[in-house]
Formats: sequence, C-alpha cells, structure tokens
Amino acid sequence: MALPETAAELTTYIEGRFHARHREQLPELQSLSEKVERVHAESPYVPVGLADLLADMIGELEVHMKKEELVLFPAIRQGHGYHMGHPIAAMRADHDDHLVAIIKIGALTNDVTLPEQACETWRRLYAGLGEFLVDIKEHIRIENDILFQQFDSDLEKRPRSYASSPCMAHEFDDDGSKI
Ligand SMILES: [Fe+2]
Ligand SMILES: [Fe+2]
Repeated sequence: MALPETAAELTTYIEGRFHARHREQLPELQSLSEKVERVHAESPYVPVGLADLLADMIGELEVHMKKEELVLFPAIRQGHGYHMGHPIAAMRADHDDHLVAIIKIGALTNDVTLPEQACETWRRLYAGLGEFLVDIKEHIRIENDILFQQFDSDLEKRPRSYASSPCMAHEFDDDGSKI
C-alpha cells in the first residue's frame, strides 16, 4: 500500500498503523515471554531476560510515542515542522535506542528462531515477536527517512535566521513529558 503523501497525513497513518499496534501487541508478548522463561527455565534455548527487556521497551516506547503524539505530530499537522529540529533530533536519538533493543532481542532469541519441539506458547511468542520487529523497523524507517527527513533537509537549506528561529525543544523535559 502506498504511504500517504503529506506529512500531516503520514503522522495520522503512523499513529494508527504502528503506535496502536505496538500498544496492542507488546503487553501480550511480554506476558508470553514471562511464561516461556518460567516454564522452560532448563532449556538452553530459553531467551533469558526477554520479558524484562520487553517490559523496559513498553515503557520507553510509550514515553516516546506520547512525545510524538502530543507535541511533534500536532506541530507537523499545524505546519510547524520546520521549527522542530530539536524534537526531531531527540526522536531520532530515541530510535537509535530502540534499534539497540531490537539487536538485543535478536541476540536473545537466536534471531527469533524456534528450537525444535517448541511448545505452543513459545511459537506464539516468536510469531508475534517476528511481526513486532518487522513493524518497529518499518515504523522507524518511515519516521527517520520519510517524515523527518523532509524537515531536516529544508532546515539545512534555509537561511541561518530561519534555522535558529525559536523551536519547541523546550517543550520536552528530561522525562519526556510535556511542560
Ligand atoms: Fe512513532
Ligand atoms: Fe518514533
């Protein structure tokens, strides 16, 4: 399916297609991973630490998505994307952290490869995990390379007075909530 053409439409698409789906998928994956780690503690293939990693990811993604939904995306919809250089840089940095977590998930799960004779729960976990990893990588790619990129390049092309005009970076405090 072709992506929406305008930045405003793209923000709405991302919220519906990716943010909502991560919120729906991750809690179930986290509870399935707790169960697999507990029941198969003796297995050499058990992904030790996956449940904790997913719990951290749920928290970090929620804070990140809220920043996009409450500050950055509304600003883009209102046509202020060119003044959002700092928030966009902060979102890109969060994406780098998510990519580190994605690499850890791959390392813990042998790249989401099931051991022979895996139980039904383990199969459901890795099937869902595989979908989640495809989704989150696509989500990050669309934001970094399609949505944010158009504002990065325009900012660089603008005269310095524009580039240094007041931005909304102050709207983020350290824990990511809106001031
Ligand atoms: Fe997002
Ligand atoms: Fe993001």
